[in-house]
Amino acid sequence: HGGPIPPRVHWSFAGMFGRFDTAQLQRGFQVYKEVCSNCHSMKLVSFRNLAQEGGPDFSASQVKALAATYQVKDGPNDSGDMFERPGRPADAFPPPFPNDQAAAAANGGKAPPDFSVIAKARTFSRGNLTFLYDWLPFVGYSEQGPDYIHGLLNGYEDPPKDFQMPEGGHYNKYYPGHIIAMPPPLSDGQITYAKDDKGQPVAPETVDQYGKDVAAFLMWAAEPHMMDRKALGFRVILFLIILSGLLYYVKKKVWSDVG
Ligand code: HEM
Repeated sequence: HGGPIPPRVHWSFAGMFGRFDTAQLQRGFQVYKEVCSNCHSMKLVSFRNLAQEGGPDFSASQVKALAATYQVKDGPNDSGDMFERPGRPADAFPPPFPNDQAAAAANGGKAPPDFSVIAKARTFSRGNLTFLYDWLPFVGYSEQGPDYIHGLLNGYEDPPKDFQMPEGGHYNKYYPGHIIAMPPPLSDGQITYAKDDKGQPVAPETVDQYGKDVAAFLMWAAEPHMMDRKALGFRVILFLIILSGLLYYVKKKVWSDVG
């Protein structure tokens, strides 16, 4: 990894009892839909996933209406032709480009990576033994992906003096090697969040907040069953502790009259 370590964010889903924040996932989806999805596909996620328990928790009818606003490729039909039709809940999110070549051509030679598992695919090393804790599968802090995504979105800055910026490059503090083909996708006030009953946005309309919300959404997309996994992990560890105590007690008992 080339850049400085992105700051740790306090995620609602971190830790043994962490849970996704439904309202945050909904805002994150809004950021994805309005901004990121113009370049990034999310091929492994279907509209209906948005209604699954533990996720953004949209209603079935909301999902149906949302899907219908997309045009999805289908076919071949009886006469062998491909055609487009309105989306249905079971369809995956349609990609913004027909293939990787087209995606790269539209983005200065680099295709924007698919988002289905990006929050788990982007990790980094803190260069010390914290990974031992980070990767404890059930209890550790393994939120490196969302930390990186939030950092990346907030990491654009002017290059250092005398830095030779290649054409189409953008300087980002947290991108390995610093030169990224993605232009800064977010700016303050760009996305209008829903209003609360006092007429205030439900969350700050800032790059920092958009970045947190979309990173949380991408974590959910990459690991929709995280909460189940953590709950299972907790029970497994509890079981192991009880089993250890039991084995110790039995061992004492069985060997008590030897030596
Ligand atoms: C790469 C996030 C919007 C174009 C990436 C990467 C992430 C990301 C995490 C991977 C970086 C890495 O490889 O470590 C986002 C988010 C967006 C967004 C969360 C919305 C808020 C956009 C938009 C465009 C775009 C609107 C097109 C105008 C690209 C390209 C790359 C990229 C071309 C590849 C960059 C390279 O490897 O040099 N983006 N992106 N992104 N993104 Fe985005």
